[in-house]
Amino acid sequence: MKLLHLDSAATGSQSVTRELSASIVARWREAVPGLNVTYRDLDAQPLPHLNSVVLAKADPAVAAESEATLQQFLDSDVIVVGAPMYNFSVPSTLKAWIDRVAVAGRTFRYTEKGPEGLAKGKTLVIASGRGGLYGDNSPADFQEAYLRQVFGFLGVDDVRLVRAEGVAYSPQHRSDALAQAHAAIAEPLREAA
Ligand SMILES: Cc1cc2nc3c(=O)[nH]c(=O)nc-3n(C[C@H](O)[C@H](O)[C@H](O)COP(=O)(O)O)c2cc1C
Repeated sequence: MKLLHLDSAATGSQSVTRELSASIVARWREAVPGLNVTYRDLDAQPLPHLNSVVLAKADPAVAAESEATLQQFLDSDVIVVGAPMYNFSVPSTLKAWIDRVAVAGRTFRYTEKGPEGLAKGKTLVIASGRGGLYGDNSPADFQEAYLRQVFGFLGVDDVRLVRAEGVAYSPQHRSDALAQAHAAIAEPLREAA
């Protein structure tokens, strides 16, 4: 089994989502002997924005990087993504990665019946961090809701969430939210069964 671990927070060692994503991956390692884990830090090694050069595959090196990124996603059974809310959405570094893996004909296609996701059979675990309090269905949420939408569009239907929110309210809020989030990390395989 292959797990792709992504982090996107720009807050380094202070990051809530990096702490949570690392704990989630540790739980998967315990549960799955021989788990093959690939780590990708989208803050330390960001992909370029999806611009005209990327879209047209005009630069061979950039095109090769795009293809490798897509293949890494396609090869993964589990994706654990550290995804803070930045300006109500996800960090642009994470968006740049999503722009590489949402590729017509590879991870989705349109049919006469509408769109079809092609990246089926994968599990996505979102480690979500938010300064404010939003709950499950806030109209201001373009972060978790966006991730569910875009990965669902690609065919990923097993989406799990670990959330720490309200972390900007106070240090106590932050430590309480982190403790709750850690406690909410479910046993990977039992949850999958
Ligand atoms: C650039 C930036 C933008 C942010 N935008 C929002 C926001 O729109 N809404 C919110 O509730 N919190 C916002 N926050 C707070 C983060 O969501 C919160 O601190 C979260 O824990 C970030 O995850 P991290 O600790 O892994 O970086 C923002 C933080 C940063 C650094």
